[in-house]
Amino acid sequence: MAKEVNTIGVLTSGGDAPGMNAAVRAVVRQAIARGKKVKGIRRGYAGLLNEEIFDMDTHSVSDIISRGGTILQTARCLEFKELEYQQKGAEICRKHGIDGLVVIGGDGSFQGAQKLAALGINTIGLPGTIDLDIACTEYTIGFDTAVNTAMEAIDKVRDTSTSHERCSIIEVMGRGAGYIALWCGIANGAEDVLLPELYDYDEQTLVSHIIEGRKRGKQHHIIINAEGIGHSASMAKRIEAATGIETRATILGHMQRGGNPTAKDRVYASTMGCLAVDLLCKGASNRVVGYRHGEFVDFDIDEALAMQKGLDDYQVEICQALGNADYKLPPLS
Ligand code: ADP
Ligand code: F6P
Repeated sequence: MAKEVNTIGVLTSGGDAPGMNAAVRAVVRQAIARGKKVKGIRRGYAGLLNEEIFDMDTHSVSDIISRGGTILQTARCLEFKELEYQQKGAEICRKHGIDGLVVIGGDGSFQGAQKLAALGINTIGLPGTIDLDIACTEYTIGFDTAVNTAMEAIDKVRDTSTSHERCSIIEVMGRGAGYIALWCGIANGAEDVLLPELYDYDEQTLVSHIIEGRKRGKQHHIIINAEGIGHSASMAKRIEAATGIETRATILGHMQRGGNPTAKDRVYASTMGCLAVDLLCKGASNRVVGYRHGEFVDFDIDEALAMQKGLDDYQVEICQALGNADYKLPPLS
């Protein structure tokens, strides 16, 4: 029997991502439009355990759709991995009348939602991370904005790299995943892209690319290095020593997590926020909303967490072919 939900809580957890505010706004307004009460929970699961819970109305989310970050603040709360604290979290939800909860975050945050669902609080997860590293979905809230931010920054580095005829290693975020690096590789026309999923630590091949490119008259050599590989500064020193070409490392860092969300992040995050509320209103629990094959879908959190995904092989191939004049594509099968 579907359980009727009367009061919906919403929290953001893990790393913030542009578009989280659009999702929060959608949760609040869709819930009110469906006749539900809404409570905001500050600072993720840490705030839940500290009872940082407040009533939200339609004005609580005015003027936030265009803003990066999260008005609810976010946190990492290691103690929430323990049953004792999960039980306390469920009790606090009950005390505040929260019978449905929307958790906006990544895989770690979904595990918290999964545990609360098992303890009787209906939960729905929304994928919020710039890393795009959630297996059940082709879209995560914040990725589009982060990629555009990184792309614009890399264009700027490229200008100065060309003027000085340098090699530039630009490190982008993504934790252990190479999605931001791969997208920037294609969008910025980088000569080389180092992806954690595929990297073989063969710096000699990299050095040869740089030297061959220079012989062909290339005025710069852009290497996009994913954070999961890291060590850009020491890599730059080794490459400069091996090629004789001045090499600089730029780590883009947290600027990729901020800024006004793109239209795509605003629209998709808004849609996902509304879907989360609709799922709760239908009595669903332990679900995560995703986007696959052009449609918004939802999965059981247990199944979603068990899924795996990797980089798109064709995207990797075209990234190499378009950025490297010597690259020969394998025959079409
Ligand atoms: P993300 O949600 O972006 O993957 P984290 O992995 O840092 O980020 O997780 C965010 C938070 O989710 C953690 O700080 C913790 O509060 C909660 N969390 C993570 N793993 C678990 C778990 N196994 N059980 C319960 N809560 C968890
Ligand atoms: O998950 C988002 C992310 O920005 C990753 O790309 C990065 O590895 C991590 O968070 C950085 O976390 P923190 O802000 O805690 O340094």
